Amino acid sequence: MTDHLAAPIPDLAFDPDMADGAFTVIDRAGASHLLPGIDGMSLMEILRAAEMPIKATCGGAAACGTCHVFVEPDYAARLPEPNEEEQDQLDHILCVEANSRLACQILWDKKKIDGLSVTLAPEE
Ligand code: FES
Repeated sequence: MTDHLAAPIPDLAFDPDMADGAFTVIDRAGASHLLPGIDGMSLMEILRAAEMPIKATCGGAAACGTCHVFVEPDYAARLPEPNEEEQDQLDHILCVEANSRLACQILWDKKKIDGLSVTLAPEE
């Protein structure tokens, strides 16, 4: 168990004038956090910047599955289909659902997914 997982989760300072939209994250305790979207960054990178408890041990290579999130179904359809690497990794996750995605493979794009809501998947 790593220490950062036990630390309180601060909300990333949110300045609507600086952000490219926003999204909501539901953590594993059911608490809701509003985070800024930043065009060109992956959701995983934003989650880590906000100190949300995801390990993302492979650094965004779709190889560890520790950035697994459930995407609100209305928004899931707006995302590109998972590529082969992401789908291979999702196939190895036990608690996968139809709306499962790897946060490292979701690039923030305000025009397409502003208002997105995701839930952190349980750790395996
Ligand atoms: S960071 Fe490893 S799969 Fe996303």
